[in-house]
Amino acid sequence: MKIERIVLPALASLLWAASAIAADVGKDLYAKTCAVCHAAGIAGAPRLGNAADWQPRIAAGTARLYTSALKGTPKGMPAKGGNTGASDGDVKAAVDYMLAAVKGSAAKPAPAAAAVAPAKPAATVAAPAPAAQVAVPAVAAVPAAASAPVDVSSNTSGASSADINSFNRLLKPIGKRNPPPAEDGIHDPANDGTMALMAPLAAYGPLPKSLVGNRVNWVKAIEEGKINPRWDKQDPNATPVIVDLNIVREVKGSMPDVVYPHKQHTEWLDCSNCHPAIFTPQKGANAISMAAILLGEKCGVCHGKVAFPVSECRLCHSKKKDTRPAQAAAAPAK
Ligand code: HEC
Ligand code: HEC
Ligand code: HEC
Ligand code: HEC
Repeated sequence: MKIERIVLPALASLLWAASAIAADVGKDLYAKTCAVCHAAGIAGAPRLGNAADWQPRIAAGTARLYTSALKGTPKGMPAKGGNTGASDGDVKAAVDYMLAAVKGSAAKPAPAAAAVAPAKPAATVAAPAPAAQVAVPAVAAVPAAASAPVDVSSNTSGASSADINSFNRLLKPIGKRNPPPAEDGIHDPANDGTMALMAPLAAYGPLPKSLVGNRVNWVKAIEEGKINPRWDKQDPNATPVIVDLNIVREVKGSMPDVVYPHKQHTEWLDCSNCHPAIFTPQKGANAISMAAILLGEKCGVCHGKVAFPVSECRLCHSKKKDTRPAQAAAAPAK
């Protein structure tokens, strides 16, 4: 920590001077291409302005960061962020922009979070959690935002915030459910705004129930018109593009096949949340396994975090196998 704190300002101020001209180019490319993953930390991408995420990477040297950004890495950073039309110079400028953003936050958040920590572990989350929560409006419209604060109660310490699973409830014991915002480990208890937020217990009362997650059946809530999530931050009249397309994934062994429904997802989520970063949009083109899902990849990027958890086998494994022709004929086609 100490060494990094010394290195960081020095490095960052160098970059600052060097990149003053390129700053706009870098910022623009970041917004256009990189933010999709780096704002929210999708697939473990280091988050913009999150010192803990960046420090170990900065320590490896700017040259490596440029190379990673240009060529990609095996752990999920696509070459040039997938925007192969961008020039090398612009991609480097985007890296510079991201490094400069850490410079801004490096001095404060980490020590501040540490200072809050001793009193109450939940408060430690000050650093990683806001990012996770910010992730959500960016990713989805609402269910995520609504559910994120909720069953996070057993949260991690800041230590593993760079880890893809720092927000994976599947790997954690179930904690207290739906605590008030000031105690949920996500919202800053010292911020007055937190007190103005409605407590989940009261807010969720009228919504259809579920036995898992934050105890709300969000799919039903939207179907029954109990909630009408706003699709766009800026435009109150924007509406989602809803695609009614089921993809059946045959499962080896005795488990029923998986039906992936586009409809229920596109009611909440823009296509770009999944395509192409998580799933190539082509039936059967993606290797998906339960192991990956449990580790927070593929469907597990959301399920177990901001959507219903993996314990609900039958919600995904919903299609009986057509093992015998007679049975298949008798059963209503689904
Ligand atoms: C589809 C998601 C995605 C997009 C888009 C994306 N990144 Fe990344 N990025 C990642 C992931 C995941 C990692 C962590 C990979 C790793 O640790 O090797 C990462 C890591 C990095 C790193 C650190 C590499 C290292 O060696 O530690 C840099 C720098 C970076 N990205 C820059 C960019 C820039 C610049 C853009 C936009 C031009 C961009 N990224 C767009 C997912 C993305
Ligand atoms: C929650 C994640 C998610 C979202 C959001 C999403 N998709 Fe998909 N999409 C998938 C998955 C999973 C598959 C199946 C991939 C496979 O079988 O390997 C798929 C497959 C597809 C396919 C291929 C179909 C075929 O028969 O080959 C198309 C086209 C597609 N999606 C379009 C869209 C569009 C358009 C949107 C937005 C309106 C969208 N998707 C939103 C997850 C998503
Ligand atoms: C980008 C986030 C995301 C990804 C990735 C994702 N889901 Fe979902 N899924 C959601 C959200 C949000 C909902 C609606 C809220 C809820 O049910 O918890 C949902 C709902 C569902 C439902 C509807 C359940 C019902 O009650 O009708 C099924 C089935 C489902 N997901 C299966 C899958 C499968 C299978 C995959 C992987 C192929 C997948 N999802 C990937 C976010 C995601
Ligand atoms: C969020 C959706 C989802 C939930 C919940 C879910 N699965 Fe899966 N499961 C999948 C997908 C997707 C696959 C991959 C299917 C394929 O091969 O294309 C899969 C595959 C499997 C397989 C085949 C072997 C493998 O690892 O790929 C088994 C067995 C399995 N699931 C068991 C379970 C059990 C048991 C549960 C409940 C504890 C469960 N699943 C809950 C989506 C889900």
